[in-house]
Amino acid sequence: MAGNWKMFKTIAETTQFIVDFLPLVAGVTHADIVIAPPFTAVADAARKTAGSSVAVAAQDLHWEKQGAFTGEVSAAMLAEAGARYVIIGHSERRHIFGETDDQVFQKTRAALGAGLTPIVCVGELLAEREAGATNQVLARQFGGSVGGLTLQEFTAIIIAYEPVWAIGTGKVATPEIAAEAHRFIRSEASAKFGKDTANALRILYGGSVKPDNVRGLMAQPEIDGTLVGGASLDAKSFAAIVNF
Ligand code: PGA
Repeated sequence: MAGNWKMFKTIAETTQFIVDFLPLVAGVTHADIVIAPPFTAVADAARKTAGSSVAVAAQDLHWEKQGAFTGEVSAAMLAEAGARYVIIGHSERRHIFGETDDQVFQKTRAALGAGLTPIVCVGELLAEREAGATNQVLARQFGGSVGGLTLQEFTAIIIAYEPVWAIGTGKVATPEIAAEAHRFIRSEASAKFGKDTANALRILYGGSVKPDNVRGLMAQPEIDGTLVGGASLDAKSFAAIVNF
């Protein structure tokens, strides 16, 4: 169960969240819990969650190890700061910042190279769904990015299905719609990497997940977890999602 904070929370706000949140998820063993604060708060969040059931993710990275890339952060820098996961190819990265499938692929390999667990996002726009092109889009995003990994690399990633029309809109995908997309992604994984690998792959659903809709989503065997934006900013709300 992962919380993507996007460009919200200072270091002080991150610290306060962790103080409030840790007691609410202290006994949790049924899920891995991840929070993804902005870069500036990653190191503090990692220190403050050390030894707890909560791990820290970054929200992006650059694929090169170092170099003249003003404004960018490498996988090794994130690992050193204490991140254990990194979100890659979020739709806001793709659609606001023009990130491509090939960049998602390179970022995923860089993350794996530094021992980070990539959470790779895919998902269709509303127009693509309405045009009946959802599977085509998912196949293109899958094939153009994580489809290029080796089998060993692929076993170490997590995929998040995030239909763009459901992100930040309050319009959650029905559990059936989400499960159908997850099934399709898993079938792509199976075709490329084999059935056992596909069955072991964790696919998270993201897009307007809230405490009051998470149970229905998690009741679908195809849905292995959630990637939560807005509802992960509040400790009680995110704890209610984790403890669905
Ligand atoms: P949301 O965002 O939960 O606010 O819809 C999800 C995401 O962008 O990961």
